[in-house]
Formats: sequence, structure tokens, C-alpha cells
Amino acid sequence: MRESREWTPQSIQTEIDALKHKPGALLPILHAIQDRFGFVPEGAVPIIAESLGQTRTEVHGVISFYHHFRTSPPGRHVLQVCRAEACQSVGGRALEAHAKARLGIDYHQTTTDREITLEAVYCLGNCACGPSIRVGNEVWGRVTPTAFDALVDELCTQPLEVIG
Ligand code: FES
Repeated sequence: MRESREWTPQSIQTEIDALKHKPGALLPILHAIQDRFGFVPEGAVPIIAESLGQTRTEVHGVISFYHHFRTSPPGRHVLQVCRAEACQSVGGRALEAHAKARLGIDYHQTTTDREITLEAVYCLGNCACGPSIRVGNEVWGRVTPTAFDALVDELCTQPLEVIG
């Protein structure tokens, strides 16, 4: 059974307390919160700020500076398209255009059925087999538009995972 992804002030505080004594704790804390809940909730900002002795503006500034951080819940699947050079040289640009058209969204957006959030990534360590994409912990290489569509169809028909 996976840990619940519903955040509470107490669960945010738990993540902060585990890391706040480390130097440069803000970034690891934001990563930990996003890893656990899928995003950094707005309500986490004052808790983080108070715990680290920083202002809310400072915490907001870091969240908005790094595109990696989400401030709203992602879709059921986060699909990342590699935009780095090696992938772009073997069709990555066409693939990302196809991905946006197929899903009807841009980067950092989620399909209206909340199935897929589309994100850009800069190298997945799969450069020899581009263009590459990642969903969860799995990386796919030499992704054609047809293969992309098949993967999206498969993702959208997967049964819901029980979380509790
Ligand atoms: S450039 Fe795309 S995986 Fe490295």
C-alpha cells in the first residue's frame, strides 16, 4: 500500500523536520514535498517559511524559479518529453509538437480528464536512443508519433491505483 498523497500541515511539517537542519535545506524540502504529494501546495509555503526563518516571498521565489516544481496536483501520469540536443537532432521537436497536439495541452498543463500532465525534461540519459520520453520511472526511446499515441492510449486505460 502506498503512502497517502493527501497533504496536511502535519505531513508537510514532517518533511520539513526531516531536512531543515541540512545546509541549503529549502530545495531538498521542496523536492521531498513534491515527491510525496506530487506538487508543492500553496498551504505549504507559510509552514516552510516559518520553519526555515525565511519569508514567504523567498520561498515562492524559489518555487517559481525552478520549472520542476508544480503548485497544483499533476494528472494521474506525468509524461516528460526530452528537449535536449541529442533528442532534438533525431526528431524530438516533431515529437514534442505531436505530443502537445495529441494531448491538447502545452508543457506544465494537464489534460482535462486529469490523466496526463506534460512536462519538458533536459536529458533522460537515453541520448543514443532518442527521441526519449519518461513516464514515472520508465524511459522509452526512439519514440515515434505512433508509439506515443499507443502509449497514451495504454496509460489512459490503466485501472486506477488504490491509494490508502
Ligand atoms: S538528450 Fe534526450 S535523453 Fe539525452
